[in-house]
Amino acid sequence: MEVVITSGAQESARLAADAVEQLLARKPDAVLGLATGSTPLPTYDELVRRHEAGQVSFARARGFTLDEYIGLPADHPQRYRNVIDRELVGRVDFASDAVTGPDGLAEDLQAAAEAYERAIAAAGGVDLQILGIGTNGHIAFNEPGSSLASRTRVQPLAPQTRTDNARFFEDDVEAVPRLCFTQGLGTIMEARHLVLIATGEGKAAAVQQLVEGPVSARWPATVMQHHPHATVLLDEAAASRLELADYYREAYAAKPEWQGI
Ligand code: PGA
Repeated sequence: MEVVITSGAQESARLAADAVEQLLARKPDAVLGLATGSTPLPTYDELVRRHEAGQVSFARARGFTLDEYIGLPADHPQRYRNVIDRELVGRVDFASDAVTGPDGLAEDLQAAAEAYERAIAAAGGVDLQILGIGTNGHIAFNEPGSSLASRTRVQPLAPQTRTDNARFFEDDVEAVPRLCFTQGLGTIMEARHLVLIATGEGKAAAVQQLVEGPVSARWPATVMQHHPHATVLLDEAAASRLELADYYREAYAAKPEWQGI
């Protein structure tokens, strides 16, 4: 796992956008894994900026979102399908239907979860997965206790997650759905490059476990320690509890620039 301590959210966004731009330059029909939440927004803004400058095209790319609330009405602004359209897909040149997410309104939820797994596999798997991390160490909505081998499934949201996400629902925790679809940890681990971004002191405990803790379902993101190409982009606050922060800084400073992340 490569840990990069950046000067802040903007530098993290630039590095993540560099990785996406370089991927699309060498593989225009790449498959992107798109996180929602607040953390990736500066990255999406940076990609939109580069798209408008003619530097990057998504015309042949495809995308899969990580997770979805179950039961939100189709036009609800916090439905992740709508969030990703608003924040990225509708602002660049993805082909229509090139980006999909699990169907939170499916009648048969189990069948929808299995269909989502098949769709990712049929697309050839995810080349680059953008990730955030929950304060409780979840990635996607894989809450503590999730099997490290889990696949796309229906999950209850942890109380911590519902509290954390109430800010998207006018601070009304009761308005936050109780059930979600999430790609499993096993699903996410099949993506060829994982790029996790964390900003702010609120993520420091989860980041400490992710980078330096034992691999455990208690902190689901720790499964990333088993991934052959995982990059963690942190601001100073998110990195503030890392025991080996100085070492990560030195290692990154010594890295040849051509290697990218
Ligand atoms: P955030 O959410 O980016 O809104 O902090 C991250 C997450 O819960 O995975």
